[in-house]
Amino acid sequence: MDTSLIVNLTYIAASIFFIVGLKMLGSPETARRGNLLSSSGMLLAVVVTLLDQNIIDYRYIAGALLAGSLVGYFAATKVKMTSMPEMVAIFNGFGGIASLLVGSSEYIHSSLNNPALMGAIYLTVLIGGVTFTGSLIAYGKLSEVISGRPFLYKGQQFVNGLLLISILLVGANMLFVQEFITPNQTLILLIVLAFILGVLFVIPIGGADMPVVIALLNSFSGLAACAAGFVITNNVLIVAGALVGASGLILTNIMCKAMNRSLSNVLFSGFGAVSDTSSDSEEDQGEVSPINAQDAYLILEAATSVLIVPGYGMAVAQAQHAVRELGELLEANGAEVKYAIHPVAGRMPGHMNVLLAEANVSYDVLVEPEDVNPIMDTVDVCMVIGANDVVNPDAKDNEGSPIYGMPIIEVDNSKTVFVLKRSMASGFAGIQNPLFFKSNSRMLFGDAKETVSTLVSEFKG
Ligand code: TAP
Repeated sequence: MDTSLIVNLTYIAASIFFIVGLKMLGSPETARRGNLLSSSGMLLAVVVTLLDQNIIDYRYIAGALLAGSLVGYFAATKVKMTSMPEMVAIFNGFGGIASLLVGSSEYIHSSLNNPALMGAIYLTVLIGGVTFTGSLIAYGKLSEVISGRPFLYKGQQFVNGLLLISILLVGANMLFVQEFITPNQTLILLIVLAFILGVLFVIPIGGADMPVVIALLNSFSGLAACAAGFVITNNVLIVAGALVGASGLILTNIMCKAMNRSLSNVLFSGFGAVSDTSSDSEEDQGEVSPINAQDAYLILEAATSVLIVPGYGMAVAQAQHAVRELGELLEANGAEVKYAIHPVAGRMPGHMNVLLAEANVSYDVLVEPEDVNPIMDTVDVCMVIGANDVVNPDAKDNEGSPIYGMPIIEVDNSKTVFVLKRSMASGFAGIQNPLFFKSNSRMLFGDAKETVSTLVSEFKG
């Protein structure tokens, strides 16, 4: 059998691994195996590519492999779960710059009279460059190296329009004309414009919307890789890039839907630049009813059904292990315990699932809002642990609210709600939550881990 046939057959096998692996990532039960399967597919693709191509010097590859493995090891073991979005942002950026470098190198070494190839190079460099600087800005905003506030300025539309026209003109020169400026100048200009576009694309977006932007940039990094696959005619790169591109877009769409916002609202509205005036101020809403952990324990002890609703605050407090322990004690006490997971609770897709899986909470006790909302009035106690926006009744009752229409977990319909948070501070959307002022709500102020640990101690006597 000739080598190219073996290589292409292996590429097909690797592609099947990617697709089945991606499908398995859709459920927490199969996600780990899905990850392993997709990585094995990538290993297969890399090994077979190394055997096939005319490698100039394996020492460079060994050096890069070592450096990459060290970075991967460090990222996997040292980066905290709450910093995952930042890490993904940086990795997307690396993906983008890698594609840009591949495209640039091919541009320098190939014949310029091939519009199809030039088109693929143009897209690779453009999308790769936008992904690189856009991801750096997203990283900066998330890690608060730069301000997370949306940066809006006068004449923004004009500057963006000018930039887009320049990018189109450079493209036309690259593909069809090849006059006015030298090929090297064309490439440098395209890279600079792509970098500027990446920055200007992300800076007007608020830090809180960065997870959506990161999913979108993830999709861009896939599209850049896909275009790079066309440039170097590598089938598996085309397939892998297209899969990343498509899955990133699907994820972006899921996140927008769960927040009841359109993608254009996320990208262009400067969400967070203006404060909400639609909901009543704290004084208008009345008084909250605080409760201490000892009294909360007495209510929990008598409860026969408890619904735990985790949110971003559980991640901040790293309370998941204490929460699991409390859940087990409640079950041992005769209560039915479920965990309601909102699709956008936390700051990244699957954030709560990952934390609860880490604490060994069984998948069987996880429920979705649509399963639990219809029977909410039968729940004795809802424990809202560091969640805020995803349980805000304004999303269904207040048409003026920025989150109006967002599906929520309707904990306010249960018999008693305990809200575990440190203060009256707002959540991600920056808005007041009328839930805290309802007659069936009790505020358990304090760090979620400390509060849950106190409840655990009470149960243990
Ligand atoms: P948030 O609405 O952000 O509320 C988190 C709450 O946790 C805060 O009110 C905070 O109050 C509390 N908290 C923080 N640290 C705490 C600690 N150590 N102990 C106890 N409480 C603590 O969270 P959520 O309900 O999970 O909603 C997520 C929000 O993020 C949604 O608006 C969603 O649209 C948005 N978002 C999510 C995603 C994804 S993919 N998950 C992506 C983009 C945007 P205190 O400061 O008073 O303690």
